Amino acid sequence: MRVRPRINRWTEARRNLVFSSSISKSLVQPHFVVSGKDIDEPISGMPGIQRQSIDVLLKTIAEDIKHGLSAHMLFTVVEPEHKDSVASAASDMDMHGIIAVRELKKHFGEQIVLFTDVCLCTATDHGHCGVIVDHQIDNDVTVQRLVEIAIAHAEAGSDYVSVSDMMDGRVTAIREALESKGHTSTGILSYAVKYASSFYGPFRDAASSSPIFGDRGSHQMDVRSGYSEAILEALNDEKEGADVIMVKPGLPYLDVLRQVADAVSRPVAVYNVSGEYSMVMNSNPDDHQRKAMIREVLHAFKRAGADIIVSYHAREAIREGLIE
Ligand code: PBG
Repeated sequence: MRVRPRINRWTEARRNLVFSSSISKSLVQPHFVVSGKDIDEPISGMPGIQRQSIDVLLKTIAEDIKHGLSAHMLFTVVEPEHKDSVASAASDMDMHGIIAVRELKKHFGEQIVLFTDVCLCTATDHGHCGVIVDHQIDNDVTVQRLVEIAIAHAEAGSDYVSVSDMMDGRVTAIREALESKGHTSTGILSYAVKYASSFYGPFRDAASSSPIFGDRGSHQMDVRSGYSEAILEALNDEKEGADVIMVKPGLPYLDVLRQVADAVSRPVAVYNVSGEYSMVMNSNPDDHQRKAMIREVLHAFKRAGADIIVSYHAREAIREGLIE
């Protein structure tokens, strides 16, 4: 089966996230997990966001749940000594990224909706999102690695494997693999419409995932491309069996978000990325102004058609009651 509409209805937490019209219930908080213990390290350029070891992350998410923040997205920061040319660490069941998924699901089970990032860039020694063959990112070899990473996440208990790589055909390949392994309730969030944006800088510092040569132009979308390219990508991933279609970044592409939301029948997510977060947080607003800016930004995403909003502002927005 390629499309299983039940996946988005599987748990009450998923239903609240995907189908509620409330902005606060639509929010997903991103996290960066590192190996070690007792680590709670600030990220430069992203005030209020930390790299955390699993023990600290568990406490952070327990606190978030108390405040009503149930949806979380996990990115794994890999130490340089564990990186290699094919991102082996990303599918290693003994690495902290996968252990974190298991621990989070063991502690919080169906109370949370857990999205886990599936890409190679945080675990390759060259920082690219794919396997390099003859100086090019090889699409189909990369898809095989993405399948292995996605299956590892599914086995650890991820609710939605979140493919952020932009290789062609990866949703089909992952859906088929999930089916053949019996993971019939694991969702796929596809970064279907993801631009080669200059707004990812603070994230790449946080996750040490910058390419050491070249850029991501051969796979992420050209920032000059029009609506037809965005809709092609979105409909394609929907046909391939994605359960959620993502547009990324958010603020510079609100018009694209609206077009995509009108074109697809699956739920649509938007990623309010690190550079957008930085712009707000580092514009030196006073407390009152910052809260008003966050409120305004989140309303814009909802108005443009987002069912799900991934945002580093999620925690503050919910704790401070900035949106309903
Ligand atoms: C991994 C990935 C990136 C982001 C999410 N997943 C960076 C990139 O494509 O280089 C960016 C998120 C952000 O800027 O907040 N491929």
